[in-house]
Amino acid sequence: MTVTTEISDPADPRLADYLALTDAGLRSRTDPANGIFIAEGELVVRRAVTAGYALRSMLLLPKLAGSLGPLAGPGVPVYVADAALLRAVTGFHVHRGVLASVVRPAPPDPAGLLATARRLAVLESVNNATNLGAVVRSAAGLGMDGLLLDQQSTDPLFRRAVRVSMGEVFALPWARLGAWPEGLDALAEAGFTVLALTPGPDAEPLDRVDVSGIERVAVLLGAEGPGLSEQALARAHRQVRIPMAAGVDSLNVAAAAAVVFWALGRRTG
Ligand SMILES: C[S@@+](CC[C@H](N)C(=O)[O-])C[C@H]1O[C@@H](n2cnc3c(N)ncnc32)[C@H](O)[C@@H]1O
Repeated sequence: MTVTTEISDPADPRLADYLALTDAGLRSRTDPANGIFIAEGELVVRRAVTAGYALRSMLLLPKLAGSLGPLAGPGVPVYVADAALLRAVTGFHVHRGVLASVVRPAPPDPAGLLATARRLAVLESVNNATNLGAVVRSAAGLGMDGLLLDQQSTDPLFRRAVRVSMGEVFALPWARLGAWPEGLDALAEAGFTVLALTPGPDAEPLDRVDVSGIERVAVLLGAEGPGLSEQALARAHRQVRIPMAAGVDSLNVAAAAAVVFWALGRRTG
């Protein structure tokens, strides 16, 4: 049976995991060093539990305790508090009044993906959590096998990235590459053809790129603003552009990712 505890003081130490989540400095407490991340919203929390993640606690609106409290599992505290207290503790409007503090797994090793994947997304310096979450959702939904990130890209388990991915980050295998851009060499060594996505005029138009005979493909995408670095571009086998119209110079990285993931899936089945 779920035992819920009503909290009425925003300074209650039992809510320490949820404190001031919008403050970058405090949020870093959810980095791997401290071993937790925050899942927000019923669907995302359900997906985390289904994927085998262990919850450390839940924080819910009182009306949700009966329906969602049992998700926490035996012995896991379920705290309930009203919307004003949730906002006071976290610093933002909590999506549908559902939060969970989740035990962070050990950082995944890229070796597994390099050994088994056929279609990989690779991100350089994508440090916006909304964009990262959208890339993850598209990658999962459009048939990519996994995601590799450089060290500068945002943590896929940051609350906003997890939420925007709709919890697909729990289903899509991901890992960080080590040194950058040297880490890209591992892709070539594993037999991947690396396609660098760039709006540059010299790149091949996506609609003319035939990947049907290529066994393993990695799609390299860059950050808003600078795009891919020269060093990363130099390590790619080919540069590919999505042709743009009406004088627009580029797409948002997540939009570009969705286009290329779909195109790859369509051509390779
Ligand atoms: C907003 S764009 C960066 C624009 C930057 N000025 C540049 O030249 O790359 C972010 C990323 O999305 C991808 N991207 C955006 N539009 C693209 C396009 N038309 N063709 C290929 N990739 C594109 C690229 O990977 C790029 O690094």
